[in-house]
Amino acid sequence: MIEFNDVTYSYRTGNHNALDHISLNFRQGEWTSVIGHNGSGKSTLVKILMGVLEGYEGEIKVDGEVMTEENLPDIRKRFAIVFQNPDNQFVGATVEDDVAFGLENNGVGRDEMVNRVEEALRSVNMLEYRTHEPSRLSGGQKQRVAIAGALAMQPDLLILDEATSMLDPQGRREVLEILREIHREKLTTLIYITHDLAEIGVSDHAVVMKDGRVINEGTVEEIYQDTDALVSSRLVLPFTISLADRLLDGCYMSYDELVERL
Ligand SMILES: Nc1ncnc2c1ncn2[C@@H]1O[C@H](COP(=O)(O)OP(=O)(O)OP(=O)(O)O)[C@@H](O)[C@H]1O
Ligand SMILES: [Mg+2]
Repeated sequence: MIEFNDVTYSYRTGNHNALDHISLNFRQGEWTSVIGHNGSGKSTLVKILMGVLEGYEGEIKVDGEVMTEENLPDIRKRFAIVFQNPDNQFVGATVEDDVAFGLENNGVGRDEMVNRVEEALRSVNMLEYRTHEPSRLSGGQKQRVAIAGALAMQPDLLILDEATSMLDPQGRREVLEILREIHREKLTTLIYITHDLAEIGVSDHAVVMKDGRVINEGTVEEIYQDTDALVSSRLVLPFTISLADRLLDGCYMSYDELVERL
């Protein structure tokens, strides 16, 4: 669905390439996780895709068509993004107003708007909070409302840029579980950015970034097996992986599997 071909970008004030010859595919219907330490270029990647940053070298194709200044506004409408900070994403006085906001801006009619808001809130299990004030929700609930706002736009691609990183473990679980369900049911194409390796378990494909480059990509098992690449990227290995790496050959995705092998 999306193809980065040899994309390089450097910020005007930067003294190095924030993205350094990136070539990557994001496939339709897949959950792709992008993992990397602070400053590895993950947000720059999606900012370029969203048209926030201009003046990159290389080429980006969406459904086979090269992204240009002319088609960018239309392409951009097909993508929705949820950011890191749950407190910076609200504009509405109530949960349902907030979810309706983007639809209103896009001129979606009243009846359809009501239906879409309801469906989006139901899919994140927040329908019963529709009349609540967003500021009074927990962090996890806020991010679920932000996801509902994105889903209501019926995007072809949903991007989450460290959307769980400011949440407590409970909030993280809630958000991940909701995303898992949405992905399973609707086969939504997802780009899930994180620096937490423990969160990539559900992805179909994972990409490891370091210093603006892609240093590894593959299935989750393949990523976990290349522990050297992960350690060199300064990522914290999940407990089962790091223990297995020290004790045994192979890859153990769950405690049960590891216990069995031990
Ligand atoms: N507005 C900016 N001006 C100059 N340099 C920037 C700017 N934003 C990011 N950079 C630099 O570009 C590189 C990539 O940053 P980016 O924000 O894409 O990383 P990231 O992987 O999203 O990091 P994090 O995990 O902290 O969100 C870093 O070296 C960063 O310092
Ligand atoms: Mg970032």
